[in-house]
Amino acid sequence: MISNTLGLWLLVTFAVANCKLSENQMKMFLANSYEKQTSDSCYKLNDVTFAFNTDIRNKQKEQFLLNTTLKEAKLSKEIWEKYFKDVNPEEYKDPILRRELKKLVIIGDAALEPSKLEKLTNAVNKMTSIYSTAKICPYEKQKCDLDKEGLNLEPGIEKIMSKSRNYDELVYAWKGWRNNSGAKMRNIFKDYVRLSNEAARLNKFSDNGALWRYAYEDENLIANMDELWAQVEPLYDELHKYVGRKLKCRYGNKLDLNDGLLPAHLFGNMWAQTWNNIAELVLPFPDAPSIDVEDGFKKQNYTVLKMFETSDQFFKSLGLISNAVCYDVSKGAMIEKPTDGREVLCHASAWDFCDGKTYRIKMCTEINLETFLVVHHEMGHIEYFQLYKDQSISFREGANPGFHEAVGDTISLSVSTPKHLHKINLLEKYIRNEKTSLNALMLKALDKVAFLPFGLLIDKWRWDVFNASIPEDKWNAHWWELRNKYQKIKAPIERSEKDFDPGAKYHVAGDSQYIAYFIAHILQFQFYKSLCMAAGEYNPNNKTIPLSECDFYESKAAGKILRDGLSLGHSKHWSEVLEIMTGDKKLNAQPLVEYFEPLYEYLKKENNRI
Ligand SMILES: *[C@@H]1O[C@H](CO)[C@@H](O)[C@H](O)[C@H]1NC(C)=O
Ligand SMILES: *[C@@H]1O[C@H](CO)[C@@H](O)[C@H](O)[C@H]1NC(C)=O
Ligand SMILES: *[C@@H]1O[C@H](CO)[C@@H](O)[C@H](O)[C@H]1NC(C)=O
Ligand SMILES: *[C@@H]1O[C@H](CO)[C@@H](O)[C@H](O)[C@H]1NC(C)=O
Ligand SMILES: *[C@@H]1O[C@H](CO)[C@@H](O)[C@H](O)[C@H]1NC(C)=O
Ligand SMILES: [Zn+2]
Repeated sequence: MISNTLGLWLLVTFAVANCKLSENQMKMFLANSYEKQTSDSCYKLNDVTFAFNTDIRNKQKEQFLLNTTLKEAKLSKEIWEKYFKDVNPEEYKDPILRRELKKLVIIGDAALEPSKLEKLTNAVNKMTSIYSTAKICPYEKQKCDLDKEGLNLEPGIEKIMSKSRNYDELVYAWKGWRNNSGAKMRNIFKDYVRLSNEAARLNKFSDNGALWRYAYEDENLIANMDELWAQVEPLYDELHKYVGRKLKCRYGNKLDLNDGLLPAHLFGNMWAQTWNNIAELVLPFPDAPSIDVEDGFKKQNYTVLKMFETSDQFFKSLGLISNAVCYDVSKGAMIEKPTDGREVLCHASAWDFCDGKTYRIKMCTEINLETFLVVHHEMGHIEYFQLYKDQSISFREGANPGFHEAVGDTISLSVSTPKHLHKINLLEKYIRNEKTSLNALMLKALDKVAFLPFGLLIDKWRWDVFNASIPEDKWNAHWWELRNKYQKIKAPIERSEKDFDPGAKYHVAGDSQYIAYFIAHILQFQFYKSLCMAAGEYNPNNKTIPLSECDFYESKAAGKILRDGLSLGHSKHWSEVLEIMTGDKKLNAQPLVEYFEPLYEYLKKENNRI
């Protein structure tokens, strides 16, 4: 599908273009020099970006990254202007070629003139750098030498957010982080918005939000996201209500529930985006044994490397490709926070160097269940990279960006079942009964259901900012309108337009889109249900064994579904890929709702009892 603005533009410009490659010439060009040039460029860019991200205070690496970015952008712009800019994809017969060209007519930021591209690149690098070097003083010593005693987000500040139950200490960390990250980038973000929009217009989009949405090949993306949200909002509301009551028990008069909004700093997470760190406050049956694998990690002598190896074993058990290369430190991976004085961008990520053999993970891995699942998430990206490596470079991408984020999470849903954790000796004994089942399901809901409104609102906010429907002097206020409306949470202290709370989230500072995560949180349950049925682990007509207890470990049939769908990369429209993988052509939250059904019934009953 193609957006209307773009389609119109192509018709107009094509009329004046006077030189174009024939169908065969274009195919030859794409398969040979274009393929080689773009893969090389991708390798170089990844190489210097990785070097900078693992040493972010190094000015020389920063400069080298900027130089390389500009040089590669210049090259790709030259190619674009010569071969793609004035091409009308509809003029070509081969549907695959047409699909490829529809992508190649968009060049993104590189359309900017060099001085502006430099400004934009600098803006993003600066915001990323503010974000990853921001520090606050410890609560016990609020006047400290930041360089020596200050706490970074990972692990220091996150530890406070997840472990502390001291209301005032949590306010302190919540506010301090925003002071020193988001607030410091508000002005840079203005430049970023202006320049990103300018680039989008050069690509013939009305604004950068429209350009971002184009990647989803869905003309009704916004309405479709709203529809998915409507499917899951009742479940979120019951969870929110239940957790709110438990927080009230814990924090008493500090909490005023009259407006139905909960303060954002009490959920065990800096953004209240996942709530599993406060599980002990909200489990329905606190006295029933719950999934505690901390002991397991110790008894099994877990190292960071072993977490990766265990994850790789799961992928291999499905008959998929080993990801061993991506966590091999001798091949450049970074799987632990360095102790040699370098400051690094800890935010976990998976890298495809586009040469069909170099893949890396960058992560400051700690040993616990949460990060164990993040390991699987990143490994999912690597598996996807490897499965589509034989596609042409334009198609070496997810069917849509949401697919990429869903793969590892689908695996995680299986890995984190008590059944599987027991199988790999992380959980010694597990007695399955109604109480432990509801506890386990609650643990999952605190992660997956709690995330949904957050996953939705970040890009809703940015779409509104990019198309200027929200003026600059209402940016922070609008952020809180959306946080109120969707997450039903409020700031614990007064906010103003001096603050810039969106920038306190990595993906906003780092120019990284977010709606993919919302889609992935819906999609992973569609994938999971389908893989579970293929593995004979779930029968929708007999729910004696609920969906949430399926473990498709070692199922070659499940592996085949992943391989068949993911190896297509971006070469087919995502709805076709989805159909191959699930039999469904549309994104649908029904499998998610089905997964949480027993918990939903329980929460409704409990919430009505009071
Ligand atoms: C970056 O480019 C500038 C100007 O072309 C040059 O002077 C500088 O040496 C380059 N720096 C690095 C680290 O490559
Ligand atoms: C945050 O910034 C405000 C205004 O600059 C200041 O008054 C406050 O003390 C800061 N708080 C923290 C926790 O850094
Ligand atoms: C873990 O290490 C201890 C002490 O070195 C050893 O006795 C034990 O067998 C190890 N356990 C496993 C599962 O490897
Ligand atoms: C801007 O985008 C939002 C979606 O984020 C949409 O609801 C709104 O109508 C758009 N406004 C304008 C002026 O285009
Ligand atoms: C449903 O599944 C359970 C567990 O596998 C089995 O014991 C039971 O017989 C099944 N019921 C029906 C109606 O197939
Ligand atoms: Zn990811």
